[in-house]
Amino acid sequence: MNILKLTINGVSHIKAVPATMTLLDFLRDEIDLTGTKNGCDSGECGCCTVMINGVPMLSCIMLAREVEGRVITTIEGIAKGNHLHPVQEAMIEKGAIQCGYCTPAMVINGVHLLENNDNPSNDEVKECISATVCRCTGYNSIEKAIHSAASKMRKAKHG
Ligand code: FES
Ligand code: FES
Repeated sequence: MNILKLTINGVSHIKAVPATMTLLDFLRDEIDLTGTKNGCDSGECGCCTVMINGVPMLSCIMLAREVEGRVITTIEGIAKGNHLHPVQEAMIEKGAIQCGYCTPAMVINGVHLLENNDNPSNDEVKECISATVCRCTGYNSIEKAIHSAASKMRKAKHG
């Protein structure tokens, strides 16, 4: 067992974790944050993406003990109270959600992209989306949602 101290969605946690437990299992089974999905358990699909110190990473191929002292953001930490992030709003408006298995990771990656670049090119949006496999939507609606969120964020910032 390892004693793990970390911050998840703004809340500090101290927990004993088995040395071999993945961050994905830790979040889902120990912290009850089940928004982060397990699509392949092998680093292939991207569905398990969370932000670690502000950078999207795959939680299924990372051990929980490796994130000692880090700041983790999961999909549950993206909305502020009742206010969805523009990426979440746009995913709903553009019908970019079907089974929703990929959606948390798409949102995490989209938020990271737009927080660093609120006017991304088509290629940049496609690259962002390509980090996650979606079996349902054909990607077009997700792409439209990211562009729509970018536009909203620019308007909010620059008027
Ligand atoms: S569940 Fe982690 S990459 Fe697929
Ligand atoms: S909405 Fe089903 S995998 Fe993307």
